Amino acid sequence: MAEIGKDINKARQLLEQGELIGIPTETVYGLAGNALNLSAVAKIFHVKERPAFDPLIIHIPDFDHAEKYAQEIPDQAIVLAQRFWPGPLTLLLKRKPIIEDLVTSGLDTVGLRCPDHPLTNKLLKSLDFPLAAPSANPFGYISPTKPEHVNDQLGNKIQYILDGGPCDVGIESTIIGFESGEPFVYRVGGLSLEKIESVIGKVQHQTTSSSNPKAPGQLLSHYAPLKKVITGNLNSLLQKHSTDSFAVLAFQQNLRQKYQRILSPAGNLEEAAKHFFSYMRELDKMPVDLILAEFVPDTGVGRAINDRLKRASIE
Ligand code: TXA
Ligand code: MG
Repeated sequence: MAEIGKDINKARQLLEQGELIGIPTETVYGLAGNALNLSAVAKIFHVKERPAFDPLIIHIPDFDHAEKYAQEIPDQAIVLAQRFWPGPLTLLLKRKPIIEDLVTSGLDTVGLRCPDHPLTNKLLKSLDFPLAAPSANPFGYISPTKPEHVNDQLGNKIQYILDGGPCDVGIESTIIGFESGEPFVYRVGGLSLEKIESVIGKVQHQTTSSSNPKAPGQLLSHYAPLKKVITGNLNSLLQKHSTDSFAVLAFQQNLRQKYQRILSPAGNLEEAAKHFFSYMRELDKMPVDLILAEFVPDTGVGRAINDRLKRASIE
């Protein structure tokens, strides 16, 4: 098992040696390595069992660092970074050659993000390289929002997990790129469309039912527990599956089931997002065959929850 602790010096030393560690961010925990060190980057793909065609996001301490790794940054990207960094927003920008093919899976853009977590920000500021960090879960599984989640799945493959407590946002960053100058949201995430649109106006966005080659990681079946997930109206699902062994994921209502989690009894979408992945993990470990789940209101960060639920329920 990996050691879980708050020692930034230890984290820095391991990263300088080309090792990988778990890092907290406001969205989910990352599996981090030196983005400029090819052997560290290769280790990330190996440890995560991630296909080489799925590019990594690079984490930087602030916007000033963006120009080291990206060029021809559109004005709207600058405006978004100024407004929402540090925060749950990843910008796809034309990469500079210092960012290698392995990191971007050969794409000419690089995903940059400045995470909003005090420990990780301090760590990033202490390093003279940026951190490549996908979510710290095996490829295709539920993202980790607590250090223990990382340890459960990757603890035998890494030495250290920086303990930043449970993630505040709980769902991955929103990914925005620019096609012929037009902004496009490739992954709905922790930063809502409404907030983005309040700054740069209407933007097009990815829908779960289409798969877009520009964002190769947006595979349809993703973020999935091991158990089968069925989505729909919970009352009907409960009737239909009355003889099955199931667990229930509800948004707000208490359905008085033996195996259930309620995302937010108060009906708050931020609270629901914060709990979502960790409840999915808990339900996945329960002695049941099925997970029955309902969608949340499709607004704000609710869109990102629904997107993950849809992907989790696709076989
Ligand atoms: O919140 C987050 O973004 C977390 C934390 C750790 O920062 N990271 C994260 O990384 O979710 P990951 O690797 O699990 O998901 C990143 C997604 C992948 O689907 C990948 O395909 C896409 O971003 N991506 C990365 N770089 C890209 C690029 N240049 N063009 C298109 N998609 C890209
Ligand atoms: Mg991921």
